[in-house]
Amino acid sequence: MTRNVSQSNALYERAKAVIPGGIYGHYGYFVRDTGPKFFSRSNGSCFWDVDDNEYIDYMCAYGPMILGYNHPKVDEAALKQLKAGNTVSLASPQLVDLAETLVDMVTASDWALFGKNGGDSTALAAMVARAATGRRKLVKIKGGYHGVAAWMQAKSNPGMTPSDSLEVIEIPWNDIDALRLVIDHYPDDIAGFISSPYDHPVFADNSLPAENYWAQIESICREKGIVIIVDEVRTGFRIHLNGANNEYDFTPDLICFGKAIGNGYPLAALTGSDALKQAAQDVYFTGTQFFNAAPMAAAKATLLELQNIDGTNVMIDYGTRFKKGLSDIASSHGYNLKITGVPAMPYFRLTNADPQIHAEWIDQCVGHGAYMLANHNNFISTAHTEADMKRTFEIVDKAFKTLGPPPPQSTNTA
Ligand SMILES: Cc1ncc(COP(=O)(O)O)c(C=O)c1O
Repeated sequence: MTRNVSQSNALYERAKAVIPGGIYGHYGYFVRDTGPKFFSRSNGSCFWDVDDNEYIDYMCAYGPMILGYNHPKVDEAALKQLKAGNTVSLASPQLVDLAETLVDMVTASDWALFGKNGGDSTALAAMVARAATGRRKLVKIKGGYHGVAAWMQAKSNPGMTPSDSLEVIEIPWNDIDALRLVIDHYPDDIAGFISSPYDHPVFADNSLPAENYWAQIESICREKGIVIIVDEVRTGFRIHLNGANNEYDFTPDLICFGKAIGNGYPLAALTGSDALKQAAQDVYFTGTQFFNAAPMAAAKATLLELQNIDGTNVMIDYGTRFKKGLSDIASSHGYNLKITGVPAMPYFRLTNADPQIHAEWIDQCVGHGAYMLANHNNFISTAHTEADMKRTFEIVDKAFKTLGPPPPQSTNTA
């Protein structure tokens, strides 16, 4: 089924005339011809496009929406602070309140600094690791995404020079030997190891840490004085409320947060251990908007509400049942649906259908009102209801019916 998206398309044409690419960045990469492109409003787990089609949103704004759109407690806190003042010549007490809340909640943290985007926190983490160790190099996971800063982009991206990422070494995910090899090669020059808690690339199955992976990383890094940076910008509060390291049993030195920390209000944070506090004080880190008080009030309300409702477990429970339901529906139509990643961030792949059929299946789901992406992990929020799950199962069933059975010998190994 294709919905009427004519208003979206008309806006897109206008956008292309005055905005490079029309819609840019990650929103642009996943624009689909027949799909919605602009929203008119949002509420709870849903948004409406400018053609007034309703969607249950399983992208959650690519992660920030964790408690539901227009969450009353979060919005009230933000609006109250907005009226009192947002960007003022002094810092707001909200800064201190939020830092205390975050440090109380995230077990591996003794302090917090705040920026706006996830990339602010990963860039800060890199500086802190280098300042603390006096070393230059960073080890990251191949394909791991940590933001748009030049040092994190692929050398081949337009606008990059090879020197931008000269000090960044990539190793495969879940490969301890590769880390050992890199350390043998640069015994005294690795400042930090940066990775998401698990591997969540686009266009490929997501992969959880192998047993003992993080414990081994921890012991190697401790022995060699390498700072362990966990990038929780995407996973934050969707694996463990107190930090994903509690799920995978290790203690990082620095944790990067962004996206969901303010339920959509712009805020990012870096938290760290006492041992790195001086380095975090020494590095140069600031931004005109870093002290906006309303997003800080929103973030504090978000964190308190997540604690209050045991939000992470609510999402894990929904995600676990969602996964089972979707796989069962797929099987009943002859499809194998592989779902990877953690329960609150499912990545879908139909293994016995080629990638075009997989994309068509997702388009059908979107066309019937469940907003998902084919080649990026999806997100669950605490606002997704039982009625949403039931409705989504009906939509997914319809989508498979429209597709018909999988063609013989069709596969998707992406
Ligand atoms: C794991 C991870 N780190 C860092 C970033 C960068 O965050 P931002 O786009 O807010 O700068 C992202 C964004 O998707 C991310 O997924």
